[in-house]
Amino acid sequence: MLELKNINFVRNGKTILNNINLTLDLKKFYVITGPNGSGKSTLAKIIMGIEKPDSGVIIFNGENITDKTIDERAKMGIGYAFQSPALFKGITVYDLLTIASGKKINKKEACNLLSKVGLCAEEYLNREVSNSLSGGELKRIEIATVLAKSPILWLFDEPEAGIDLWSFQNLTDVFKEVSKASKGTTLVISHQERILRIADEIILMENGKIKKIGNKDEMLKSIFRGSCPKGAKVYE
Ligand SMILES: Nc1ncnc2c1ncn2[C@@H]1O[C@H](COP(=O)(O)OP(=O)(O)O)[C@@H](O)[C@H]1O
Ligand SMILES: [Mg+2]
Repeated sequence: MLELKNINFVRNGKTILNNINLTLDLKKFYVITGPNGSGKSTLAKIIMGIEKPDSGVIIFNGENITDKTIDERAKMGIGYAFQSPALFKGITVYDLLTIASGKKINKKEACNLLSKVGLCAEEYLNREVSNSLSGGELKRIEIATVLAKSPILWLFDEPEAGIDLWSFQNLTDVFKEVSKASKGTTLVISHQERILRIADEIILMENGKIKKIGNKDEMLKSIFRGSCPKGAKVYE
C-alpha cells in the first residue's frame, strides 16, 4: 500500500536518508526504531509530505504521490497525529475532533471516537484542549483526532513522549485495539519495548539507512541480543 523507492534526503551536506527502500502492506502494524538522529522522523515527514526527498519515488495505493502536498496526501488517506499535542485556547475537544475529521460530526460521533480511545466521552467533549488535560489524556485525544480522519495509513512519531509510565501502559492497549479495528496500516516510531511488542514488523534504522526489517519475534531477538554486553549469555 506504500512503497518508498530509493529515497535520498541531504541537508547541509549531510546525508540524512540514504537510499531508503521500503514497502508497507495493508493492515499491518509497523514500528520504526533506532538511535536518535538515525532519520526516523525525517522518514515520517517524507511520507506525510512535510519534507520532499531530493530523489526517489513514493507510491501510495498505486499512485505516485512524490509531488503531492500534505493536504492532498491527507485526502488520499494518510493521517498523522499532531507531533506534540497542540494546545488551543478556547478550542474544545469536540471542536478539535470536528476540525480533524474535516467535516461536521455530531456529538454522538465525537463521543464514539473518544470512547474508542478509552475516555469517558461526556466528560471530555466540552473541555478546552489545554494544560488542564493530563499528558495521557492529550495523547488519547491526539489518537482520536487521527481516528476521526479514518486514514488508510496512520503515522505516530514517538507517542510515548511526555507521558508517565502508567498512562503509557494503557496507551499501548489503546494502540493495539485501535489498530486491530482500523482498516488501514499503522506506522509508529518508538523506542518502547511495549510498543515494539505489539508490532507485526519492526524496522530498524541506523545512520539514515534501514539496517534491518523483519517480523517482531526475530527482530526483538536481534535487537536485544545486540544490546547485550560482549560475552553475555543470551537467554531465549
Ligand atoms: N531539515 C533539516 N535540515 C538539517 N538537518 C536535518 C533536517 N531534518 C533532520 N535533520 C538532521 O537529520 C538527522 C536525523 O534527524 P531525525 O530524522 O529527526 O532523526 P530521529 O527521528 O531518528 O531521531 C539529525 O541529525 C537531524 O539533526
Ligand atoms: Mg525523531
